Amino acid sequence: MISENMAKKLQHQMNREIYSGYLYLGMAAYADSTGKPGFAHWFRRQFHEELEHAERFYDYLINQGARVMMEPIEQPPQEFSSAPELFEKTLAHEKAVTGLIHDLVEAAKQEDDKATEEFLQWFVKEQIEEELTPANIIKKIDNTGRDEAGVAKIDEQLVLRK
Ligand code: FEO
Repeated sequence: MISENMAKKLQHQMNREIYSGYLYLGMAAYADSTGKPGFAHWFRRQFHEELEHAERFYDYLINQGARVMMEPIEQPPQEFSSAPELFEKTLAHEKAVTGLIHDLVEAAKQEDDKATEEFLQWFVKEQIEEELTPANIIKKIDNTGRDEAGVAKIDEQLVLRK
């Protein structure tokens, strides 16, 4: 069993993962509204990935005998200035999520909760990729010169995300 304090913290992180998904679904909607199906597709995939992250927290809490309560999900931003800005916002958001995961690891260490510390290691590693992917896409966008033709080229590549 984990402590009530730790269960609450993990439950809150589950909420943040769902928020991440909601944020990315909103970004997909923005991309769709501006005629960028590749960007929209990429963010739709990311939406699903974040829900899987949330489920990992859910499953862990259930397996630890915790009662999982749903917290409200805040409204994400919905207006953006351009398709490339979506990835700048994504990178900043993922850096913040990395900070939250690291705080949880610290909290688990302080409680000497080895099971939770071990559980969180998957997320510590995952966050490396979560930051690297948007950073690489931003580089690619920059390499195109950020003009309309370049962004359209990136849009064609993003639609290939599995
Ligand atoms: Fe669940 Fe994008 O981190």
